[in-house]
Amino acid sequence: MPDAQPEDVLSDDIEKSLQRSVARSEEIEREIAADPSTFRVLTGDRPTGRLHLGHYLGTLANRVRLQDAGVETVLVVADYQVIMDRDDAGPLAERVRGLVTDYLAAGIDPERTTIFTHSSVPALNQLVLPFLSMVTDSELKRNPTVKAEHEATGGRPMSGLLFTYPVHQAADILFCKANLVPVGKDQLPHLEATRVVARRFNEKYARTFPLPEALLSRTANVLGLDGEKMSKSRGNTIELGMTADQTAKQFKRAVTDSDRHITYDPIGRPTVANLLQIAAACSGGDPARIAAEIGDGGGGGLKAVVTEAVNEHLAPLRARRLELEADPGYITSVLAEGNKRANEVADATLDEVRAAMGMVYGA
Ligand code: TRP
Repeated sequence: MPDAQPEDVLSDDIEKSLQRSVARSEEIEREIAADPSTFRVLTGDRPTGRLHLGHYLGTLANRVRLQDAGVETVLVVADYQVIMDRDDAGPLAERVRGLVTDYLAAGIDPERTTIFTHSSVPALNQLVLPFLSMVTDSELKRNPTVKAEHEATGGRPMSGLLFTYPVHQAADILFCKANLVPVGKDQLPHLEATRVVARRFNEKYARTFPLPEALLSRTANVLGLDGEKMSKSRGNTIELGMTADQTAKQFKRAVTDSDRHITYDPIGRPTVANLLQIAAACSGGDPARIAAEIGDGGGGGLKAVVTEAVNEHLAPLRARRLELEADPGYITSVLAEGNKRANEVADATLDEVRAAMGMVYGA
């Protein structure tokens, strides 16, 4: 069968790859502590709306940590990914600016971290063509993330862009030769696809790309206020841009249970445990200890504690956000500078790729 290639994207058993990545992530954290300059991180987001507490605790805080540890970081604002699974991309320019504002408010420093928009970097996008030649249609068809993304669209026909998603994501990572990608468990197959593209290119033409590794995030996966996945469309989020009052109102609506005695029991009492985890993540405390302190305070007591922890933690971020919103020219200049830097890097990589492929003609 044409599928049965030795290096098939999926031949790697997912569970085995997960275990390997967990162990390797611990090792990478030690290597970062010893010498952060050996790593370059690439990650990013789609500009689909304002970031919320789930993004912040799950990924953004971790990016700030890596940046502050001295790891060179590149953030892609993946505007081309917004058009792969929907008809209406929404007010893109506004959302891009909102996303960048959230980044900076959270502590991303544009002097140290390059922030760029996907569609502004032509050479990056040109890498997609040679990379597409490195994979087969059956590999793309069976890629778990393509499948998951497609299922999430609720039966909408798959666009060619969604079908080739792992390949342009490989270009996002490889254009700057990033060797580290912070991911959640569900995204491991992505990275496998990027590694396959890099390995095949290196073998076919010339050693050009590193094989990037996953850095599994250590943070808990925070749920929404109703105990479901935190997402804007469900209305169960705390957006970073909310005021303290709006935050308090949102937490008042949070689902808890009828047992007034608060305990930390993630399996038996998931909604209560989730609020305790949020409080712990924001206050640097321990969820079981926070539960013991609330004791018989019930859902009301728990909501008061988590509201205070979140508001206190986000206060400096929100203040910075207001400052940034008052100076729109600054966000424009951050993007202009980030795009310039990303273009320089992408042009250099594309030159190397052309040379490796024997596509250098004339001047
Ligand atoms: N797919 C990511 C998201 O939906 C954004 C993204 C684009 C990305 N390119 C990437 C993440 C490369 C990691 C690596 O948020």
